[in-house]
Amino acid sequence: MFQQLQAAPPDAILGLNEAFSRDTTDGKINLTTGVYKDAGGTTPVLECVKEAERRLVETEASKGYLGIDGMKEFSDAARGLLFGADHEITTSGRTTTIQAPGGTGALRVAAEFLATAFPEAKIWCSRPTWPNHPGIFSAAGLEVAEYDYYDAATGTLDAQALFDSLAEIPAGDIVCLHACCHNPTGVDPTPEQWQEVSRVIADRGLLPLVDFAYQGFGNGLESDAAGLRALAGPDCRLLVASSFSKNFGLYRERVGALSVVTGDPDTAAVVLSRLKQTIRANYSNPPSHGAAIVTTILGDDGLRAGWETELETMRARINDTRQALADGLAEAAAGHDFSSIIRQRGMFSFSGLSPEQVDRLKNEFGVYMVRNGRINVAGVTPDNVGRLCESIAAVL
Ligand code: LMR
Repeated sequence: MFQQLQAAPPDAILGLNEAFSRDTTDGKINLTTGVYKDAGGTTPVLECVKEAERRLVETEASKGYLGIDGMKEFSDAARGLLFGADHEITTSGRTTTIQAPGGTGALRVAAEFLATAFPEAKIWCSRPTWPNHPGIFSAAGLEVAEYDYYDAATGTLDAQALFDSLAEIPAGDIVCLHACCHNPTGVDPTPEQWQEVSRVIADRGLLPLVDFAYQGFGNGLESDAAGLRALAGPDCRLLVASSFSKNFGLYRERVGALSVVTGDPDTAAVVLSRLKQTIRANYSNPPSHGAAIVTTILGDDGLRAGWETELETMRARINDTRQALADGLAEAAAGHDFSSIIRQRGMFSFSGLSPEQVDRLKNEFGVYMVRNGRINVAGVTPDNVGRLCESIAAVL
């Protein structure tokens, strides 16, 4: 039966790790997946995570199933981090939050819920977006379309094109927005531009699905939530898929949350019942360990303070690395403008390199990045930045 099948193409991002592992080039550099690395090139386990795990080993009393929607304490903490503990959306009961296996799991639950609740609605993604967005949404049965976002000529947000194209989306459709650290461009709206995005979305009667995978990696935990909070007005309806992979370094533990903001607590209860139906038919109920770590840290003042310090260290290293990369490229590739690297935020930089140049970097220098030219800045270290800049200069 299986012989008739065609092989699927490797994943646009994770598939490159497999190719990287096979590569025997001396000094090869992996700038593909959005994973934080320290200056030594290691993805560390945070100290606060180690401490939370020590406590959990002592106190965990059961490995019985969690509920279909996960741990209530985790969901409450996740919602508080997104909107603020005192925000009306957090306290009013009109929002339901479920624990999900990573941000990707949260997006998939959201997509399946939306596809069954609103079968006529299309979902609109920024051009460009994370390559897995269209994959997740169409696998759930949603039709995917694109809105304007990025001006490749200047390496900045094309704000007017963004507002204009949102204003043309039919009422009732869904808009997928990146809360901060836009993946892949690293280019975000300013707080004022977010206000305008929010106004257009409300005027058009669109439903935002906010992908919030990098809270704390842009400018700070609170300021990174400015876009979400601009959307979170008294009459808003929205969904947020949030991830703890990056900001707690819990990639392989698969910790995420989906929050759905409705109009009142009764509607929130109905939505929760539909989310649970989707989850039960998919992965039944979520894994516990990562969510227990996050709940332990966010519920303890000392651990939380330690986490915020570690997060700040990761953010500062990435921003320093942006400067080092831009400086290195200015020297190695004089005459080419890479200054937008400094202005972008989050793990990624959209280099402007063409797919052919990216292929040459891989084949001739063992330098791996996503074929759309996206660089994981967090993978650049003091040891590899020189070789990276020289390799890039050689393919320009
Ligand atoms: C990325 O964009 O590299 C990360 O979000 C990891 C992934 O799953 O693609």
